[in-house]
Amino acid sequence: MKLTVASENPAQISADVLVLNVFEGENPTRGALAALDQELNGLIGRVAALDNLPTKLYQTMLLPTSGSVAAPRLLLIGCGKRVEFDSVRLHRLASAAVRAAERLKVSSVALRIAGGPNGRIAGEAVASGAHVATLDLGDYKTKPDEARREIAEVKVLPPDGEGGEYAEGVRRGSIIGEAINLARHLAQAPGNILTPQRLAEHAQSAGQRAGFTVEVLDRSQMEQLGMNALLGVAQGSEQPPAMIVMRHNGRPGTSVDLALIGKGVTFDTGGISIKGASDMHLMKEDMAGAAATVAAMQAIAQLRVSANVLGLIPAVENMPSGHAMRPGDVLKAMNGKTIEVLNTDAEGRIILADAVAYAQHLGAKKLIDAATLTGAVVVALGGQAAAVLGTSDEWIGRVRSAADQAGERVWPLPLWEEYLEQLRSDVADVANVGGRAAGTITGAMFIRQFVDPGVEWAHLDIAGVAWTEREAPYLPKGPTGIPTRLFVRLAEDVASSGGK
Ligand code: BES
Ligand code: MN
Ligand code: ZN
Repeated sequence: MKLTVASENPAQISADVLVLNVFEGENPTRGALAALDQELNGLIGRVAALDNLPTKLYQTMLLPTSGSVAAPRLLLIGCGKRVEFDSVRLHRLASAAVRAAERLKVSSVALRIAGGPNGRIAGEAVASGAHVATLDLGDYKTKPDEARREIAEVKVLPPDGEGGEYAEGVRRGSIIGEAINLARHLAQAPGNILTPQRLAEHAQSAGQRAGFTVEVLDRSQMEQLGMNALLGVAQGSEQPPAMIVMRHNGRPGTSVDLALIGKGVTFDTGGISIKGASDMHLMKEDMAGAAATVAAMQAIAQLRVSANVLGLIPAVENMPSGHAMRPGDVLKAMNGKTIEVLNTDAEGRIILADAVAYAQHLGAKKLIDAATLTGAVVVALGGQAAAVLGTSDEWIGRVRSAADQAGERVWPLPLWEEYLEQLRSDVADVANVGGRAAGTITGAMFIRQFVDPGVEWAHLDIAGVAWTEREAPYLPKGPTGIPTRLFVRLAEDVASSGGK
């Protein structure tokens, strides 16, 4: 999809459909749309007089313009109350509008969404939302979806008074929106297609496109580094594992300012402690954290963020087989700590142990990981927020503010030392599961054991938010791309404080 900022007057814009937003409880012909409504020979005013304006959030109405303006169709879209219209809603509204246009089977759309946020934030929200709308998740269908046609071009019309800042926001939003779509595209890929090796190839091509470096460690290199925790999980699969190492150097000097780490289990059967059959197919999404990490690295490089960012993906498939690890096995992680595997389905934390250790080995002092780690987080927060846990309140605070700015929700859970008791092992330094109580916390507490003193680390449990099973006007069922935007924002925050 081609996305541009248009400078024409909305009445003159050539597009198959012109989208305008309307607020609840307001007469649009007395506000920003007054001049345009005159060009439309009072069309909007007549709908308003009939009390039929679509003002509820995401409600739409299609009107023919009958030659009064250049665009043959007008699509009005409701955006609820003006006071509630923030950047999250703006992003979603732009996506909902473009998705509605897809159902009209047209090929070009002009978006003029006014009110609410302005400047860079607004341009970014509109452009990223428009991109999110256009991703075709039907990669594996041999016949196109009859209900919609992919939009080829979106023209963003800055509302009155908006200038260079807004256009800059649109440029950024395009990069971010494309990154979100890359994450969704990867997360959607099934386990037979997206193996650890294929994931590594996708990272390599993103690196070539965006200009960051990618190195892929194979089994023997990982053996040399002592990554026996990750290798233990990988040993049951025919698919060779990979440690994907991505580097964006946006600042002089070689120190790593920030490490982004994404759980990359390309399929999680549970291993010998095998999962039940129902919904097991969804475990192809167990690399959603990895997908967001590749995507964020792409955007960070394209936005030339002035920080040195390391992206790490431990990539494995978790399978039962004659050479799979057994419950009771003891693994030694890269940092020398021993792990008693009581449940082979708690594999994410085991591979993250080595990834976190490796990030520190490469010099990272600030770390964040994203992982579809526990079913317990779905019980705790549902599909509305990722859980955030970590080593310092200050670092967690920065992660939370990056999330707010990115329009992605995270919510804190405690990580008190007492929870470690649940992970006590009779035979090794730590057990990989801690019982039913506080499952998300003990999962994080396990990873915490591999973080050195003085290192800032935050963990996002994204199992509830990486995938949606309910279609929304602004997003189809499937992968959400979370936390791509948070990762990009956090890198920018680190860059703006000089790598600190
Ligand atoms: N990948 C799963 C967690 C998951 C659940 C992701 C639902 C997405 C949706 C993870 O590897 C897992 O199996 N976790 C276990 C841990 C348990 C054995 C301690 C879980 O949550 O049941
Ligand atoms: Mn598992
Ligand atoms: Zn898993």
